[in-house]
Amino acid sequence: MPEYVAKTLFGLEGVLAEELQALGAGDVKTLTRAVSFTGDKRMLYKANYHLRTALKILVPVKEGEIKNEQELYQFVRSINWDRYMGVNDTLAVDVAMKTPLFTHTQYIAQKIKDAVVDQFRDKYGSRPSVDLDKPSLRINAFISDRNIVISRDSSGDSLHRRGYRVRQGPAPLNEVLAAGLVKLSGWPGNIPLIDFMCGSGTIAIEAAMMALDLPPGDLREHYGFQQWRDYEPALFNQVAVVERKTSLTADLIFASDISAEAVQLAQRHARNAGVLRAIRFSTCPFNDFQPPSAPGMVIINPPYGERIVQQNLEDLYTSIGNQLKKSYAGFDAWIISNNAEAMKHVGLRPSPKIVVYNGQLECRFNRYSLYAGSKKQPKS
Ligand SMILES: C[S@@+](CC[C@H](N)C(=O)[O-])C[C@H]1O[C@@H](n2cnc3c(N)ncnc32)[C@H](O)[C@@H]1O
Repeated sequence: MPEYVAKTLFGLEGVLAEELQALGAGDVKTLTRAVSFTGDKRMLYKANYHLRTALKILVPVKEGEIKNEQELYQFVRSINWDRYMGVNDTLAVDVAMKTPLFTHTQYIAQKIKDAVVDQFRDKYGSRPSVDLDKPSLRINAFISDRNIVISRDSSGDSLHRRGYRVRQGPAPLNEVLAAGLVKLSGWPGNIPLIDFMCGSGTIAIEAAMMALDLPPGDLREHYGFQQWRDYEPALFNQVAVVERKTSLTADLIFASDISAEAVQLAQRHARNAGVLRAIRFSTCPFNDFQPPSAPGMVIINPPYGERIVQQNLEDLYTSIGNQLKKSYAGFDAWIISNNAEAMKHVGLRPSPKIVVYNGQLECRFNRYSLYAGSKKQPKS
């Protein structure tokens, strides 16, 4: 059975492994920023179309050890590239490396490309050309110390590009991270979910897509494997069937922000994603947001401080904590932030604190359980 590697963000390996189990993948193993699994071609297509927390699905071609640039070149040349592409096809090379052997990723990508095209030129007198945008074959090289894995990238563009985002908005969450946060939170899908700092709406949209059983690949127009020689469109059409639920229970997902512009953008994204009616939008400071009655869940991604002074940020986090204590008894509230100092100002004890990465930023995703009844009951 072919082996595949699904790449993800640090901290999401566990939820990705669960998604793979649910899809019926074989031999699911959790690695760092990745999960390996086995399956047939149908499984490869399913993984690309249905996984919410994967960035890429790679198909390893060859693994080995190298000591220098010459060995790298020979290693790549020793692969029979004829199996995967022809001289009239195009290629692109992506490199991820953590090794003392080499310093410049671009240079190593160039070397790998040379090894592939030289093989064709020597055999046929002509060579495939490079297309960085939509190549027939996207090659992925992962070099860790002396270990190298060359893979075919079956996804092409990263899977977080669902196709609903038109503009970034300030500091949006990666779609894969937003979906991962909803999964990490354990939101059961039948109690209210609130993001009262929704920005461009990513958390609410990903949650709505989950609740409606809308696959993340629904809007996507292209996958790398569709350029491959062994692509079976009929098989992909069987996999890409959407059986969305037509509606949700009213008042399930709430998205709100102080910025009218952010809310407009979030609504536009939700419309593109086909989930506009599943989300109740409002524009207000979070202190004015009226939550539905408990139980429920809050997931927020407050500003981290790139554009705001620390003192103001600490006040903002204090005020978030106060609001949670005041109006959210019976809720679980999750906050993602990379600003550890500001997080202390929430003034509640988090458990658990999960480490996740938002781009390059190491963040904590903290849960605060706001027990019902901890507030003083009014005297009757
Ligand atoms: C880091 S962004 C959220 C990004 C969002 N998760 C996304 O994917 O686009 C933080 C958001 O908090 C909002 N915000 C800041 N202060 C607020 C307040 N007092 N009440 C409500 N929203 C606020 C900002 O307008 C901004 O959209």
